[in-house]
Amino acid sequence: MRQPEPEPQSFDRVLSSMCTEPHPDARAAAERFLATNPGDPATYDAVAELEARAVEGLAALAAHPTPADAAGYVTSGGTEANVQAVRSARNRHGGSDGSRGGSGGARSERDVNVVAPASAHFSFTKAAALLDVELRTVPLDDDYRADAEAVAAAVDDATALVVGVAGSTEYGRVDPISELAAIAEEAGARFHVDAAWGGFVLPFTDRDWSFADAPVDTLTIDPHKFGQAPVPAGGLLAREDAALDALAVETPYLESRSQATLTGTRSGAGVAGAVAAMDALWPDGYREAAERAADNAEWLAGELAARGYDVVEPELPLVAADVPESEFQALRDAGWKVSRTGSGELRVVCMPHVTRAALRAFLDDLDGIRR
Ligand SMILES: Cc1ncc(COP(=O)(O)O)c(C=O)c1O
Repeated sequence: MRQPEPEPQSFDRVLSSMCTEPHPDARAAAERFLATNPGDPATYDAVAELEARAVEGLAALAAHPTPADAAGYVTSGGTEANVQAVRSARNRHGGSDGSRGGSGGARSERDVNVVAPASAHFSFTKAAALLDVELRTVPLDDDYRADAEAVAAAVDDATALVVGVAGSTEYGRVDPISELAAIAEEAGARFHVDAAWGGFVLPFTDRDWSFADAPVDTLTIDPHKFGQAPVPAGGLLAREDAALDALAVETPYLESRSQATLTGTRSGAGVAGAVAAMDALWPDGYREAAERAADNAEWLAGELAARGYDVVEPELPLVAADVPESEFQALRDAGWKVSRTGSGELRVVCMPHVTRAALRAFLDDLDGIRR
């Protein structure tokens, strides 16, 4: 018997996701490039050209000194970009020429460490396990940002990478990027900024986060989050080609000679969607989306505080509030896709699809539950 056509969820009640409804141009472009593979650029040359445009666009957003020459690629997501940043730093650490190649040097991988704030995304835990490096997580300050003193105390000459987060997953915080970069430089480590979620909002703020603000070596910035591109479209950028060269392996059966990506065959849909989204939205559309999201987050934080909840003031458009478990569950039962931080606060990510009307309906339901 023929089954009914499966339908994806609607975004109407999705308040916890860091992805959003793709821009219509991006959706159409993704569909057009569905059967292409940028992992084999000599065969799929049209999508390979598009990927160069995607990297240039992302590099412009992240204020790379020479966007047209920036190194990088469209990853499967922020996880792959972060794993690759750790891998690149590990491979480059400690060699006499600044690089010791992919297979490791005299000391074991475990002797190499990565220093990241406790707010770093769990993709760094995966990276450390996969790459067999030690992950040193350091405490946050009392506003959920990396504590620079704790980072300085944690680095040593085996530190290959220091990580700063620009738009943290749980509270939307931006770490003191310039201070962390200086600590990394002093320690002889590379510096990575994880702006997977924040990267399409931060250009419209006064925060330090980009290649222009600090000596950033690598940076994660995901079109499939605030960039309004379809999944899968993450982004890894590097200041220098050497960061990607340290990832490259030879590709004997392909016409191209080497490959720096983690996956082999990968989605041309992600690449095309990312380019189309940036063509349609950079900069004015992204500015408008960022401003609307910031207004919504401020408004929601105020409304929750007025109801007596402890609210973590939003820095980027993400609101966390201490809502009792029973109310949280009742909201989930009412169909609201909300999630909690590690400490149990309800978190609402004000993505572009989250309208003021949706937030009003959410608060109406919350008020009904409290009665
Ligand atoms: C700051 C940050 N980095 C990395 C990631 C991982 O991204 P992905 O889920 O696309 O792999 C996320 C996901 O939300 C994130 O918030």
